[in-house]
Amino acid sequence: MGRRALRKIDPALDLSRRLFALDAVPRPVDAAWLGRRAPLEVEAGSGKGLFLSAAAMQRPEHEFLGIEIRPKYARFAAARLAKQQIKNARIVCGDAQRLVREHLADSSAAAVHVYFPDPWWKARHKKRRLLNELFLRDVERVLQPGGSLHFWTDVEEYFQATLALIREVTKLAGPLSVAESAPQHDLDYRTHFERRTRLAGERVYRAEFRKGEPRQDSPGRGRIVSPS
Ligand SMILES: C[S@@+](CC[C@H](N)C(=O)[O-])C[C@H]1O[C@@H](n2cnc3c(N)ncnc32)[C@H](O)[C@@H]1O
Repeated sequence: MGRRALRKIDPALDLSRRLFALDAVPRPVDAAWLGRRAPLEVEAGSGKGLFLSAAAMQRPEHEFLGIEIRPKYARFAAARLAKQQIKNARIVCGDAQRLVREHLADSSAAAVHVYFPDPWWKARHKKRRLLNELFLRDVERVLQPGGSLHFWTDVEEYFQATLALIREVTKLAGPLSVAESAPQHDLDYRTHFERRTRLAGERVYRAEFRKGEPRQDSPGRGRIVSPS
């Protein structure tokens, strides 16, 4: 991701309670490791950690767990959490598919967030996409009843293909339409990629799915809200 070089991380920041290797994460993730019993929100592919830090501040009663496969971005996101003294979020460096499959118990997450996953454009590379059948089945398994999957992207083909796959391989209800909000300041976006996409005047495709709600097949559902 990111075209610009990442800002330097202050070496004085203590990342030890914000950054973890995947192998250091217990199986399953539990209240003892998280530090308390609280609703858990998981973000796959956290990038520079804007969602994780903003959401953790907005919902202090929740615990947040981000996972990012590229070490330099995982460190950057952890530094953001440490700098902002956020105690209810942590980032794991590793593969989100493994984290969800091997480290999350059934019905343990209140939400799973996937924002702007790598599109892997070429036909022969599409099998590398994060949102594949196995991962979606795992997401459904780890969501608690009423829990939600949030998926945003700027790639219409990935969006439509994923919506069809969710319908085919899970019982998640949706897509629910998600309204776009006007930013109140320069970083008031869900993620850095949302910011980049909207500033470029391009369309963002957003969907939310819920576990344990009756499926709605009416055409009014899943309305895509395009940038104004
Ligand atoms: C296009 S970026 C989007 C970052 C962020 N979600 C945003 O919207 O700004 C995709 C991110 O997902 C990460 N990623 C790709 N595959 C992953 C995987 N299997 N597990 C965890 N992170 C992954 C990439 O390293 C990259 O940081």
